[in-house]
Parts: sequence; C-alpha cells; structure tokens
Amino acid sequence: MFQNLAEAQATCESCHACELGQTRTKSVFAGGSPLAKIMVIGEAPGKDEDEQGEPFVGRSGQLLMKLFAEVGLERERDLYIVNTIKCRPPQNRKPTQAEKEACRPFLDAQLAFIQPQIIVLCGATAVSSLLPQEKRTITQIRGQWFDHASGAKVMAVFHPSYLLRHHSLDAGTPRSLMRLDLAEIVSALGEKC
Ligand code: URA
Repeated sequence: MFQNLAEAQATCESCHACELGQTRTKSVFAGGSPLAKIMVIGEAPGKDEDEQGEPFVGRSGQLLMKLFAEVGLERERDLYIVNTIKCRPPQNRKPTQAEKEACRPFLDAQLAFIQPQIIVLCGATAVSSLLPQEKRTITQIRGQWFDHASGAKVMAVFHPSYLLRHHSLDAGTPRSLMRLDLAEIVSALGEKC
C-alpha cells in the first residue's frame, strides 16, 4: 500500500480515516531507530505524546525507557517504538475496534519496512492486534515467545502504566517480572543476531 516508510508517515500525519484525526494535536508515527532489531508496540499516544508527536515520552514511557536502559537497550539505537494506533483517544480511553482497523495500514507498513527480529507487545491492546487469537491475559502470557508470520519472535510484557502503580521489586511482583522479561529479550537478541 505504501512505497516506503516516509510515505506511510506523511499519510499518517494528515490522516482522517477515523474521528481521532479531529481531536489529536499531532499524530505519533514512531520513535527510536528505524534500523533497530527490536520493535516495541504500545497502545496509543497519551497527552504528552499527542503534544510532542513522539511515542512513550510521558511518565509511563520514561519508566519503560529506564527499564530498557537497565538491560542495555537504548531508545535511539536499539528500539523502534510505535503504538497500535497513532492518534490519542480523548481522555486516554481504550481504542475502539474501528480505530484499530482504520490505523492498521500504518502498523502493517512499519512491520513490513522495519522487519524487526523481535517484537515487544506492551499491554493488551498491542496483544490484540498482533496475536488476535490470544484470549489469555498479559499476566498469563507475558515472558513467553510467540512466532509472527514474518519470522520475528514476539513477546508480550506488562504495559508501563501498570508498572507505575506497582512499585515493589520483590520476586514475583510485576516490576521484577518485567526485568526478567527484558533480560530474556536481550539474551534472545544475542542468539538471533
Ligand atoms: N502509552 C502507550 O501505550 N504509548 C505511548 O506512546 C504512551 C503511553
């Protein structure tokens, strides 16, 4: 559908395929490096992302980037960062099915042109887009590897906004499990690449 990523981005920036085109400040196409082997997929831009046009720059995004940095993965070098939908839903409500479908060509273009080796799904909305058959919760499937049709390995992890509400690092807590999952991603990267 798109000839290249730049064309997809330009189309996204002036997109009105759904109603979110009327309420957004900026569409948020992607952040990080298009050369990265890891693609991180979140849910949707929040207030800070909508204002800045960059994904995962608000409180939850800063926490996620700190957790990636703790395992040696840097935003601008190692990660290509996107959301399932590219415009902020009012009051940060969950994206509707129609919004996800309207936005899907952009995510498909990103997957096709970036060809990530590893895809990290942050939260249930990203899981529902890339693993549509999966009905279990993030708590049940996080940390496990799935195969994507492209050959990429896929892992679901907790969304960072959930981690903002759970501070403990004790064994078995969400933050400790997130650390284990990110360490597993680094070790898979070493094996694959
Ligand atoms: N939450 C997301 O899922 N994505 C962002 O870009 C910011 C917050």
